[in-house]
Amino acid sequence: MLNKGFTVWLTGLSGSGKTTIARVLQRRLMDMGYRAELLDGDEVRKNLSPDLGFTKQDRETHARRVVYISKLLTRNGVIALVSLISPYRAFRAYAREELKDFVEVYVKCSIDTCIKRDPKGLYKKALNGEIPDMTGIQDPYEEPLNPEITVDTDRQSVEECVNIIMDGLRRLGYITAATAATTTTVQVREAVEGSGVKKEGSS
Ligand SMILES: Nc1ncnc2c1ncn2[C@@H]1O[C@H](COP(=O)(O)OP(=O)(O)OP(=O)(O)O)[C@@H](O)[C@H]1O
Ligand SMILES: [Mg+2]
Repeated sequence: MLNKGFTVWLTGLSGSGKTTIARVLQRRLMDMGYRAELLDGDEVRKNLSPDLGFTKQDRETHARRVVYISKLLTRNGVIALVSLISPYRAFRAYAREELKDFVEVYVKCSIDTCIKRDPKGLYKKALNGEIPDMTGIQDPYEEPLNPEITVDTDRQSVEECVNIIMDGLRRLGYITAATAATTTTVQVREAVEGSGVKKEGSS
């Protein structure tokens, strides 16, 4: 399917749910026939920025590289899904300016919940002083002031968050209202039921 490329930029604290949501979102979009590439914080960092740490400057250099890759993807009609803490407002403004078709999704979650989830054990290390520059502990997280979409993972399930983002993308005109995924499900059901009828008829 030919479509206009755009970037969905998921920002939020570590453990807020960016990767979890982005993966489901990617699957949903691909099921609808869209081409969507996930640029996930850890994975991309390993490949693109193994030389960089987490100082403000390094975070920014890394994020600039991600913006560049997103630009290459989106200008070829691919949806770039970026899941990156991206704690600084000024940087997200830069990404928006560079990428133009930019949907900022604030994956909101209280720091208390993130500390409780601690899926990578990073907060524990930061609170023990083993990590000196953890966002939300020593480093700031600057909340988006005017994101296109906000999801609240303290209150909403993964599925609800993905639905909210899909609705937002439709509202913004980036994806069509027609849900190919639903059609496919219906078609599959019809196909199964159809073969059932045939079997009954032939037996
Ligand atoms: N509504 C929700 N949305 C997303 N994740 C949720 C939700 N509720 C609970 N979780 C859980 O929270 C954790 C989020 O971890 P995830 O790796 O997605 O965070 P992240 O924002 O990508 O963190 P990081 O910035 O460190 O990569 C997962 O264990 C996930 O199962
Ligand atoms: Mg992640």
